[in-house]
Amino acid sequence: MPERDVSRRVARISPSPTMAVDARAKELKAAGEPVIGFGAGEPDFPTPEHIVAAAERACRERAYHRYTPTAGLPELRAAIADKTRRDSGLEVSPDQVLVTNGGKHALYGAFMTICDPGDEVLLPAPYWVSYPEQAALAGAEVVTVPTDAASGYRVTVEQLEKARTARTRALVFVSPSNPTGAVYPPDEVAAIGHWAAENGIWVVTDEIYEHLVYGDARFTSLPAVVPEAAARCLVINGVAKTYAMTGWRVGWLIGPAQVIAAATALQSHMTSNVANVAQAAALAALTGSHDTVYEMRAAFDRRRLTMVKMLRDIDGVDCPEPEGAFYCFPDVRRLLGRAIAGRTVRSSAELAEVLLDAAKVAVVPGEAFGAPGHIRLSYALGDDELAEGVARIADVLG
Ligand SMILES: Cc1ncc(COP(=O)(O)O)c(C=O)c1O
Repeated sequence: MPERDVSRRVARISPSPTMAVDARAKELKAAGEPVIGFGAGEPDFPTPEHIVAAAERACRERAYHRYTPTAGLPELRAAIADKTRRDSGLEVSPDQVLVTNGGKHALYGAFMTICDPGDEVLLPAPYWVSYPEQAALAGAEVVTVPTDAASGYRVTVEQLEKARTARTRALVFVSPSNPTGAVYPPDEVAAIGHWAAENGIWVVTDEIYEHLVYGDARFTSLPAVVPEAAARCLVINGVAKTYAMTGWRVGWLIGPAQVIAAATALQSHMTSNVANVAQAAALAALTGSHDTVYEMRAAFDRRRLTMVKMLRDIDGVDCPEPEGAFYCFPDVRRLLGRAIAGRTVRSSAELAEVLLDAAKVAVVPGEAFGAPGHIRLSYALGDDELAEGVARIADVLG
Protein backbone atom coordinates (compact mmCIF):
# COMPACT_ATOMS: atom_id res chain seq x y z
CA MET A 1 0.00 0.00 0.00
CA PRO A 2 1.51 3.41 -0.92
CA GLU A 3 2.44 5.23 2.24
CA ARG A 4 0.24 8.26 1.48
CA ASP A 5 -2.85 6.06 1.69
CA VAL A 6 -2.44 5.45 5.37
CA SER A 7 -1.58 7.68 8.29
CA ARG A 8 2.08 8.12 9.20
CA ARG A 9 1.22 6.67 12.58
CA VAL A 10 0.07 3.38 11.13
CA ALA A 11 2.46 3.30 8.17
CA ARG A 12 5.43 2.90 10.50
CA ILE A 13 4.06 -0.21 12.22
CA SER A 14 5.29 -3.57 11.03
CA PRO A 15 2.97 -6.56 11.34
CA SER A 16 3.60 -8.77 14.36
CA PRO A 17 6.52 -11.05 13.31
CA THR A 18 5.38 -13.84 15.61
CA MET A 19 1.93 -13.79 14.08
CA ALA A 20 3.53 -13.72 10.61
CA VAL A 21 5.69 -16.79 11.32
CA ASP A 22 2.67 -18.61 12.71
CA ALA A 23 0.51 -17.66 9.71
CA ARG A 24 3.22 -18.84 7.27
CA ALA A 25 3.60 -22.16 9.12
CA LYS A 26 -0.18 -22.70 9.13
CA GLU A 27 -0.35 -21.80 5.43
CA LEU A 28 2.35 -24.35 4.53
CA LYS A 29 0.64 -26.95 6.71
CA ALA A 30 -2.68 -26.30 4.97
CA ALA A 31 -0.88 -26.80 1.63
CA GLY A 32 0.15 -30.26 2.82
CA GLU A 33 3.72 -29.48 3.96
CA PRO A 34 4.72 -31.34 7.14
CA VAL A 35 5.60 -28.13 8.99
CA ILE A 36 6.22 -28.11 12.72
CA GLY A 37 5.52 -24.69 14.20
CA PHE A 38 7.63 -23.47 17.13
CA GLY A 39 6.53 -19.93 16.35
CA ALA A 40 3.26 -19.33 18.16
CA GLY A 41 2.97 -18.65 21.85
CA GLU A 42 -0.08 -20.78 22.45
CA PRO A 43 -0.71 -23.94 24.41
CA ASP A 44 -1.59 -27.01 22.34
CA PHE A 45 -4.15 -28.15 24.95
CA PRO A 46 -7.86 -27.63 24.49
CA THR A 47 -9.54 -25.19 26.85
CA PRO A 48 -10.50 -27.21 29.98
CA GLU A 49 -13.94 -28.78 29.82
CA HIS A 50 -15.58 -26.91 32.74
CA ILE A 51 -14.72 -23.60 31.04
CA VAL A 52 -16.16 -24.68 27.69
CA ALA A 53 -19.30 -25.93 29.49
CA ALA A 54 -19.78 -22.53 31.17
CA ALA A 55 -19.53 -20.83 27.76
CA GLU A 56 -22.05 -23.28 26.30
CA ARG A 57 -24.49 -22.46 29.07
CA ALA A 58 -23.92 -18.74 28.53
CA CYS A 59 -24.59 -19.09 24.80
CA ARG A 60 -28.10 -20.31 25.59
CA GLU A 61 -28.96 -17.45 27.95
CA ARG A 62 -30.31 -14.30 26.42
CA ALA A 63 -28.55 -12.08 28.92
CA TYR A 64 -25.25 -13.15 27.36
CA HIS A 65 -26.40 -12.07 23.90
CA ARG A 66 -26.21 -8.44 24.97
CA TYR A 67 -23.53 -5.80 25.58
CA THR A 68 -21.91 -5.81 29.00
CA PRO A 69 -20.60 -2.67 30.69
CA THR A 70 -17.41 -1.54 28.89
CA ALA A 71 -15.24 -2.45 31.86
CA GLY A 72 -16.65 -5.99 31.94
CA LEU A 73 -19.25 -8.11 33.73
CA PRO A 74 -19.35 -6.94 37.36
CA GLU A 75 -18.97 -10.56 38.57
CA LEU A 76 -15.89 -11.03 36.37
CA ARG A 77 -14.28 -7.82 37.63
CA ALA A 78 -14.92 -8.99 41.20
CA ALA A 79 -13.47 -12.44 40.39
CA ILE A 80 -10.36 -10.82 38.90
CA ALA A 81 -9.91 -8.74 42.07
CA ASP A 82 -10.28 -11.93 44.18
CA LYS A 83 -7.90 -13.86 41.95
CA THR A 84 -5.32 -11.08 42.17
CA ARG A 85 -5.47 -11.23 45.98
CA ARG A 86 -5.27 -15.05 45.88
CA ASP A 87 -2.43 -15.43 43.35
CA SER A 88 -0.39 -12.24 43.79
CA GLY A 89 -1.19 -11.08 47.31
CA LEU A 90 -2.23 -7.73 45.82
CA GLU A 91 -5.33 -6.07 47.27
CA VAL A 92 -7.43 -4.39 44.54
CA SER A 93 -11.11 -3.47 44.24
CA PRO A 94 -13.28 -4.31 41.21
CA ASP A 95 -13.26 -0.65 40.09
CA GLN A 96 -9.52 -1.04 39.57
CA VAL A 97 -10.12 -3.71 36.91
CA LEU A 98 -10.80 -3.24 33.18
CA VAL A 99 -11.63 -6.39 31.20
CA THR A 100 -9.97 -6.20 27.78
CA ASN A 101 -9.78 -8.09 24.52
CA GLY A 102 -6.75 -10.10 25.65
CA GLY A 103 -3.57 -9.05 27.39
CA LYS A 104 -2.41 -7.36 24.20
CA HIS A 105 -5.37 -5.00 24.25
CA ALA A 106 -4.75 -4.30 27.96
CA LEU A 107 -1.21 -3.26 27.08
CA TYR A 108 -2.39 -0.99 24.32
CA GLY A 109 -4.87 0.63 26.70
CA ALA A 110 -2.10 1.05 29.26
CA PHE A 111 0.30 2.85 26.92
CA MET A 112 -2.45 5.01 25.42
CA THR A 113 -3.68 6.01 28.84
CA ILE A 114 -0.42 6.97 30.51
CA CYS A 115 1.88 8.12 27.67
CA ASP A 116 2.07 11.43 25.88
CA PRO A 117 4.22 12.28 22.85
CA GLY A 118 7.77 12.86 24.01
CA ASP A 119 7.55 10.55 27.01
CA GLU A 120 10.21 7.88 27.19
CA VAL A 121 9.40 4.26 27.91
CA LEU A 122 12.20 2.01 29.15
CA LEU A 123 12.07 -1.40 27.53
CA PRO A 124 14.48 -4.14 28.58
CA ALA A 125 15.58 -6.20 25.56
CA PRO A 126 15.04 -8.89 24.37
CA TYR A 127 11.41 -7.77 24.45
CA TRP A 128 8.08 -9.13 23.31
CA VAL A 129 7.26 -7.77 19.85
CA SER A 130 4.19 -5.67 20.61
CA TYR A 131 5.62 -3.49 23.40
CA PRO A 132 7.68 -1.13 21.24
CA GLU A 133 5.01 -0.82 18.55
CA GLN A 134 2.28 -0.05 21.05
CA ALA A 135 4.34 2.44 23.07
CA ALA A 136 5.31 4.20 19.83
CA LEU A 137 1.66 4.32 18.72
CA ALA A 138 0.94 6.16 21.95
CA GLY A 139 3.57 8.70 20.89
CA ALA A 140 6.23 7.59 23.33
CA GLU A 141 9.89 7.14 22.53
CA VAL A 142 11.10 3.64 23.29
CA VAL A 143 14.46 3.40 25.04
CA THR A 144 15.74 -0.16 25.00
CA VAL A 145 17.91 -1.44 27.81
CA PRO A 146 19.87 -4.50 26.64
CA THR A 147 20.24 -7.58 28.81
CA ASP A 148 22.13 -10.78 28.06
CA ALA A 149 22.37 -14.42 28.97
CA ALA A 150 25.21 -13.69 31.42
CA SER A 151 22.81 -11.68 33.62
CA GLY A 152 20.00 -14.19 33.12
CA TYR A 153 18.30 -11.70 30.78
CA ARG A 154 17.29 -9.66 33.83
CA VAL A 155 17.72 -5.90 33.87
CA THR A 156 19.33 -4.26 36.91
CA VAL A 157 18.49 -1.05 38.75
CA GLU A 158 21.94 0.27 37.75
CA GLN A 159 21.09 -0.18 34.07
CA LEU A 160 17.67 1.41 34.51
CA GLU A 161 19.13 4.34 36.41
CA LYS A 162 21.66 4.90 33.62
CA ALA A 163 18.85 4.97 31.04
CA ARG A 164 16.59 7.24 33.11
CA THR A 165 16.11 10.86 31.99
CA ALA A 166 13.75 13.67 33.00
CA ARG A 167 11.41 12.36 30.29
CA THR A 168 11.24 8.76 31.52
CA ARG A 169 7.59 8.02 32.03
CA ALA A 170 7.34 4.26 32.30
CA LEU A 171 9.17 0.96 32.52
CA VAL A 172 7.90 -2.21 30.88
CA PHE A 173 8.49 -5.11 33.25
CA VAL A 174 7.72 -8.72 32.38
CA SER A 175 8.42 -11.75 34.53
CA PRO A 176 8.23 -14.57 33.49
CA SER A 177 9.50 -13.16 30.23
CA ASN A 178 8.62 -13.76 26.66
CA PRO A 179 10.95 -14.42 24.77
CA THR A 180 13.69 -15.37 27.26
CA GLY A 181 11.79 -17.26 29.97
CA ALA A 182 13.62 -15.20 32.63
CA VAL A 183 11.96 -14.99 36.05
CA TYR A 184 13.09 -12.23 38.43
CA PRO A 185 13.68 -13.32 42.05
CA PRO A 186 11.70 -11.38 44.71
CA ASP A 187 14.63 -9.19 45.83
CA GLU A 188 15.27 -7.99 42.26
CA VAL A 189 11.56 -7.30 41.72
CA ALA A 190 11.56 -5.31 44.97
CA ALA A 191 14.67 -3.33 43.99
CA ILE A 192 13.13 -2.36 40.64
CA GLY A 193 9.82 -1.48 42.31
CA HIS A 194 11.56 0.78 44.85
CA TRP A 195 13.57 2.47 42.10
CA ALA A 196 10.37 3.15 40.12
CA ALA A 197 8.50 4.46 43.17
CA GLU A 198 11.38 6.73 44.21
CA ASN A 199 11.57 8.22 40.73
CA GLY A 200 7.83 8.51 40.09
CA ILE A 201 8.05 6.15 37.12
CA TRP A 202 5.08 4.09 35.98
CA VAL A 203 5.56 0.35 35.76
CA VAL A 204 3.59 -1.54 33.15
CA THR A 205 4.00 -5.04 34.56
CA ASP A 206 2.99 -7.97 32.38
CA GLU A 207 1.99 -10.96 34.52
CA ILE A 208 0.45 -13.09 31.77
CA TYR A 209 2.81 -16.04 32.48
CA GLU A 210 2.44 -15.89 36.28
CA HIS A 211 1.44 -19.56 36.63
CA LEU A 212 4.09 -20.89 34.26
CA VAL A 213 7.21 -21.06 36.41
CA TYR A 214 9.40 -24.13 36.86
CA GLY A 215 11.97 -25.60 39.22
CA ASP A 216 12.80 -23.24 42.07
CA ALA A 217 11.57 -20.12 40.26
CA ARG A 218 8.66 -18.27 41.88
CA PHE A 219 6.42 -15.59 40.41
CA THR A 220 6.49 -12.24 42.24
CA SER A 221 4.04 -9.42 41.57
CA LEU A 222 5.84 -6.07 41.67
CA PRO A 223 3.05 -3.93 43.22
CA ALA A 224 2.46 -6.63 45.85
CA VAL A 225 6.06 -6.54 47.10
CA VAL A 226 6.40 -2.76 46.73
CA PRO A 227 3.07 -1.21 47.77
CA GLU A 228 4.57 2.29 47.26
CA ALA A 229 4.85 1.49 43.55
CA ALA A 230 1.17 0.50 43.23
CA ALA A 231 -0.07 4.05 42.74
CA ARG A 232 1.87 4.10 39.46
CA CYS A 233 1.56 0.55 38.38
CA LEU A 234 -0.53 -1.05 35.66
CA VAL A 235 -0.81 -4.83 35.81
CA ILE A 236 -1.46 -6.77 32.59
CA ASN A 237 -2.91 -10.24 32.76
CA GLY A 238 -5.33 -12.60 31.03
CA VAL A 239 -6.61 -16.14 30.63
CA ALA A 240 -4.84 -16.98 27.35
CA LYS A 241 -1.72 -18.77 28.54
CA THR A 242 -2.81 -20.18 31.90
CA TYR A 243 -6.04 -21.80 30.75
CA ALA A 244 -5.21 -22.55 27.08
CA MET A 245 -7.63 -19.81 26.05
CA THR A 246 -5.70 -17.80 23.45
CA GLY A 247 -8.66 -17.69 21.06
CA TRP A 248 -11.21 -16.49 23.62
CA ARG A 249 -9.60 -13.06 23.87
CA VAL A 250 -10.01 -12.12 27.52
CA GLY A 251 -7.40 -10.12 29.41
CA TRP A 252 -7.43 -7.33 31.93
CA LEU A 253 -5.73 -4.21 33.13
CA ILE A 254 -5.43 -3.37 36.82
CA GLY A 255 -4.37 0.01 38.16
CA PRO A 256 -5.39 3.07 40.15
CA ALA A 257 -9.18 3.56 39.84
CA GLN A 258 -8.98 6.95 38.09
CA VAL A 259 -6.54 5.61 35.47
CA ILE A 260 -8.72 2.56 34.91
CA ALA A 261 -11.70 4.89 34.47
CA ALA A 262 -9.74 6.77 31.79
CA ALA A 263 -8.70 3.54 30.05
CA THR A 264 -12.35 2.43 30.19
CA ALA A 265 -13.44 5.64 28.48
CA LEU A 266 -10.93 4.94 25.71
CA GLN A 267 -12.13 1.37 25.36
CA SER A 268 -15.76 2.52 25.24
CA HIS A 269 -14.98 4.16 21.90
CA MET A 270 -12.80 1.35 20.55
CA THR A 271 -14.35 -2.02 21.25
CA SER A 272 -17.15 -1.46 23.79
CA ASN A 273 -17.03 -4.66 25.81
CA VAL A 274 -15.26 -7.99 25.41
CA ALA A 275 -17.52 -10.75 23.99
CA ASN A 276 -20.05 -11.52 26.71
CA VAL A 277 -19.83 -15.32 26.36
CA ALA A 278 -16.03 -15.17 26.51
CA GLN A 279 -16.31 -13.24 29.78
CA ALA A 280 -18.53 -16.02 31.17
CA ALA A 281 -15.84 -18.52 30.18
CA ALA A 282 -13.13 -16.42 31.85
CA LEU A 283 -15.21 -16.27 35.03
CA ALA A 284 -15.40 -20.07 35.09
CA ALA A 285 -11.64 -20.28 34.49
CA LEU A 286 -10.76 -17.97 37.38
CA THR A 287 -13.19 -19.39 39.90
CA GLY A 288 -13.01 -23.10 38.93
CA SER A 289 -10.55 -25.88 39.70
CA HIS A 290 -6.92 -25.27 38.78
CA ASP A 291 -6.06 -28.95 38.42
CA THR A 292 -5.82 -28.68 34.64
CA VAL A 293 -3.52 -25.67 35.00
CA TYR A 294 -1.11 -27.74 37.09
CA GLU A 295 -1.32 -30.62 34.60
CA MET A 296 -0.51 -28.32 31.68
CA ARG A 297 2.33 -26.76 33.63
CA ALA A 298 3.81 -30.20 34.34
CA ALA A 299 3.67 -30.98 30.61
CA PHE A 300 5.34 -27.68 29.71
CA ASP A 301 8.05 -28.35 32.27
CA ARG A 302 8.76 -31.78 30.80
CA ARG A 303 8.89 -30.35 27.26
CA ARG A 304 11.10 -27.49 28.44
CA LEU A 305 13.72 -29.93 29.75
CA THR A 306 13.54 -32.05 26.60
CA MET A 307 13.94 -29.05 24.33
CA VAL A 308 16.83 -27.54 26.29
CA LYS A 309 18.68 -30.85 26.31
CA MET A 310 18.15 -31.45 22.58
CA LEU A 311 19.14 -27.90 21.64
CA ARG A 312 22.26 -28.06 23.79
CA ASP A 313 23.33 -31.17 21.91
CA ILE A 314 23.48 -29.19 18.65
CA ASP A 315 26.92 -27.78 17.85
CA GLY A 316 26.72 -23.99 17.54
CA VAL A 317 23.58 -23.56 19.65
CA ASP A 318 23.88 -22.13 23.18
CA CYS A 319 20.68 -22.53 25.12
CA PRO A 320 20.14 -21.14 28.62
CA GLU A 321 17.52 -22.94 30.71
CA PRO A 322 14.34 -20.84 30.78
CA GLU A 323 12.65 -20.65 34.19
CA GLY A 324 9.19 -19.56 33.09
CA ALA A 325 6.70 -19.01 30.24
CA PHE A 326 7.05 -21.58 27.42
CA TYR A 327 9.93 -20.49 25.20
CA CYS A 328 13.57 -21.39 24.67
CA PHE A 329 15.71 -18.52 23.42
CA PRO A 330 19.00 -19.99 22.23
CA ASP A 331 21.97 -17.97 21.04
CA VAL A 332 22.82 -19.10 17.50
CA ARG A 333 25.64 -16.67 16.77
CA ARG A 334 28.19 -19.48 16.48
CA LEU A 335 26.20 -20.79 13.49
CA LEU A 336 26.37 -17.54 11.55
CA GLY A 337 28.71 -17.55 8.57
CA ARG A 338 28.34 -21.33 8.17
CA ALA A 339 26.89 -23.02 5.09
CA ILE A 340 23.60 -24.63 6.11
CA ALA A 341 21.53 -26.63 3.62
CA GLY A 342 23.65 -25.18 0.82
CA ARG A 343 23.26 -21.58 1.86
CA THR A 344 25.59 -19.30 3.81
CA VAL A 345 23.58 -18.09 6.76
CA ARG A 346 24.51 -14.59 7.94
CA SER A 347 21.77 -13.72 10.41
CA SER A 348 19.21 -15.36 12.65
CA ALA A 349 16.52 -14.12 10.23
CA GLU A 350 18.22 -16.07 7.43
CA LEU A 351 18.60 -19.08 9.70
CA ALA A 352 14.85 -19.03 10.38
CA GLU A 353 14.22 -19.00 6.61
CA VAL A 354 16.57 -21.93 6.04
CA LEU A 355 14.99 -23.92 8.86
CA LEU A 356 11.56 -23.39 7.37
CA ASP A 357 12.69 -24.35 3.87
CA ALA A 358 15.01 -27.23 4.68
CA ALA A 359 13.71 -28.61 8.00
CA LYS A 360 10.08 -27.55 7.61
CA VAL A 361 10.31 -26.06 11.07
CA ALA A 362 9.06 -22.57 11.98
CA VAL A 363 10.98 -20.54 14.57
CA VAL A 364 10.93 -16.80 15.25
CA PRO A 365 14.23 -14.97 14.58
CA GLY A 366 15.65 -12.89 17.42
CA GLU A 367 15.52 -9.76 15.23
CA ALA A 368 11.80 -9.62 16.13
CA PHE A 369 12.66 -9.26 19.82
CA GLY A 370 15.51 -6.78 19.49
CA ALA A 371 18.04 -9.63 19.87
CA PRO A 372 19.58 -10.64 16.53
CA GLY A 373 21.68 -13.77 16.71
CA HIS A 374 19.03 -15.70 18.62
CA ILE A 375 15.90 -17.67 17.77
CA ARG A 376 12.77 -18.28 19.82
CA LEU A 377 11.14 -21.69 19.97
CA SER A 378 7.89 -22.28 21.82
CA TYR A 379 7.69 -25.58 23.71
CA ALA A 380 3.90 -25.36 24.00
CA LEU A 381 3.39 -28.14 21.49
CA GLY A 382 2.98 -31.91 21.79
CA ASP A 383 5.94 -33.97 23.08
CA ASP A 384 6.34 -36.03 19.91
CA GLU A 385 6.04 -33.07 17.57
CA LEU A 386 8.52 -31.16 19.70
CA ALA A 387 11.09 -33.95 19.64
CA GLU A 388 10.61 -34.46 15.89
CA GLY A 389 10.95 -30.72 15.19
CA VAL A 390 14.17 -30.28 17.18
CA ALA A 391 15.58 -33.47 15.63
CA ARG A 392 14.93 -31.99 12.18
CA ILE A 393 16.75 -28.80 13.19
CA ALA A 394 19.67 -30.90 14.44
CA ASP A 395 19.75 -32.81 11.15
CA VAL A 396 19.85 -29.64 9.04
CA LEU A 397 22.48 -28.02 11.24
CA GLY A 398 24.53 -31.15 11.79
C1 LIG B 1 4.44 -11.26 27.22
C2 LIG B 1 3.07 -11.31 26.63
N1 LIG B 1 2.17 -10.40 27.02
C3 LIG B 1 0.94 -10.38 26.51
C4 LIG B 1 0.55 -11.29 25.56
C5 LIG B 1 -0.84 -11.18 24.99
O1 LIG B 1 -1.67 -12.22 25.30
P1 LIG B 1 -3.18 -12.22 24.82
O2 LIG B 1 -3.34 -13.42 23.97
O3 LIG B 1 -3.98 -12.30 26.10
O4 LIG B 1 -3.45 -10.95 24.10
C6 LIG B 1 1.45 -12.26 25.11
C7 LIG B 1 1.08 -13.21 24.05
O5 LIG B 1 1.89 -13.79 23.39
C8 LIG B 1 2.74 -12.27 25.68
O6 LIG B 1 3.63 -13.18 25.31
